[in-house]
Amino acid sequence: MILAQMASVLVALFALSSSADAFAVHRTELSSSSSSSSSSSSSSSSSRLRSTIESSSIDASTTIADVGHVTTKLVPPSKLAHHATSELFDTRVQKTYGRYPITFVSGSGSTLTDDTGKVYLDFVSGIATCALGHNNPELTKAVCDQMGRVHHVSNLYYTPQQGQLANWLCENSCADKAFFCNSGAEANEAAIKLARRHANNRGITDPVIITAEQSFHGRTLATVTATAQPKYHKGFTYGGEMVAGFRYTPYNDLDALRALVDEINVTPPEHASVGRKRGLAAIMLEPLQGEGGIKPGTREYFALARELADANGALLICDEVQVGMGRSGSLWGHEQLDVKPDVFTSAKALGGGVPIGAMMAAKSVSDTFGPGDHASTYGGNPLACAAGLAVAEYLSEHDVLSNVRARGEQLAVGLADIAGRYPTVLGETRGWGLLRGVVIKDDAGCTAAELVGDAMKEGLLLVAAGPSVVRFVPPLVVEESEVAEALVRFERAIATRVGTTP
Ligand SMILES: Cc1ncc(COP(=O)(O)O)c(C=O)c1O
Repeated sequence: MILAQMASVLVALFALSSSADAFAVHRTELSSSSSSSSSSSSSSSSSRLRSTIESSSIDASTTIADVGHVTTKLVPPSKLAHHATSELFDTRVQKTYGRYPITFVSGSGSTLTDDTGKVYLDFVSGIATCALGHNNPELTKAVCDQMGRVHHVSNLYYTPQQGQLANWLCENSCADKAFFCNSGAEANEAAIKLARRHANNRGITDPVIITAEQSFHGRTLATVTATAQPKYHKGFTYGGEMVAGFRYTPYNDLDALRALVDEINVTPPEHASVGRKRGLAAIMLEPLQGEGGIKPGTREYFALARELADANGALLICDEVQVGMGRSGSLWGHEQLDVKPDVFTSAKALGGGVPIGAMMAAKSVSDTFGPGDHASTYGGNPLACAAGLAVAEYLSEHDVLSNVRARGEQLAVGLADIAGRYPTVLGETRGWGLLRGVVIKDDAGCTAAELVGDAMKEGLLLVAAGPSVVRFVPPLVVEESEVAEALVRFERAIATRVGTTP
């Protein structure tokens, strides 16, 4: 009975594929996954499922409506857990990520444990997200307690946690008010919309947002357009264009920024003649480019961006999604550059791994949105905000920023030493606090991704930042002995790669 229902659900899903070919691919994958399974029960239930599907008279062009069947009894998730995890991913998860062949099942502090029991030092921390490491008792308790009280009600109502987190963020930054969402991309999307509305309010019909080459701002259509890296645009254009209203400029290049602002300020005559007005809405920058290769901004560049934004009634937006919430050694990356943005965005570490994002606005623009202008169902719900408050409290009470600065210095010195010992492989080391990168030289004979794989064999998790930088982003609470051990493992990985002993 259950198998028959599984089959009908699968048939309905397969029917969403537009061609018989796609159906054939699904069927082949299912078939090969069952034959490669090591568990006999898994193999027999897969083959029973396969034969049920193959004997079905419904073909690939059948739509859900044609099936004419309402599922009355669901297959419980536990019944699906008989496959190896990677096999389930191969058949059931869209391949938007290239994954390393490790399945993690638990974590503690700066370590993660895989399903074979191997323990890794985690210098990825969910890509700069698990600020307090794994299984932090305070974060766990806050989330569990909140779950037991109330975890979601809708932004139609007030909840204390959202107000408290907004207040903490504002009291510890140049911002006046928060808008909560669920991710970095959404926070940036909100910032982009705010900048456009702010420009529209000033009579600009064609608001332009400047972003920097090699930036990364997210994967929604607007934020991936803001992301000035053509590789992320491929296949997502309309008539060759991404979202209108974005212009790109080389990061840290003062003259190019000045010239671009001058150009934007002149509305093309064919647009001016029909009443359109082009103008600068915002300059949107990461204080340190993370995905773009761990490149810190310069004070001069950000001072100029501030000056140009002011001179044009536009906004300076800082994307603090990766560098913010303490990772740079100060709470916000823009503090390293001695600049105050009108808007900044946060996510990743904000909830310590519980999804939450925030778009923070200074007083001059914090009332740009009114009711109905922007929204998010989950944004700032009590569960996510309880996590954010636990992170905020931990950072405040344990002087985590001092740890970030000390451990960051230790990491920087250690990486520079290793780079000095392997000058044919490693180049410049750069970054702030616990957001560090080491450049892999062009003629090193390996890529950053390959070195990350080498380090993984040594029990150290790292992540590439672009093709030629290996990134170190441990939890902000990482200990001195863990940084020392990570450096030993990284050197061992390099030594193995070049065929020497460290
Ligand atoms: C600087 C920056 N902005 C935005 C994002 C997008 O964040 P999310 O993946 O949470 O949407 C990222 C993600 O890496 C990022 O590094």
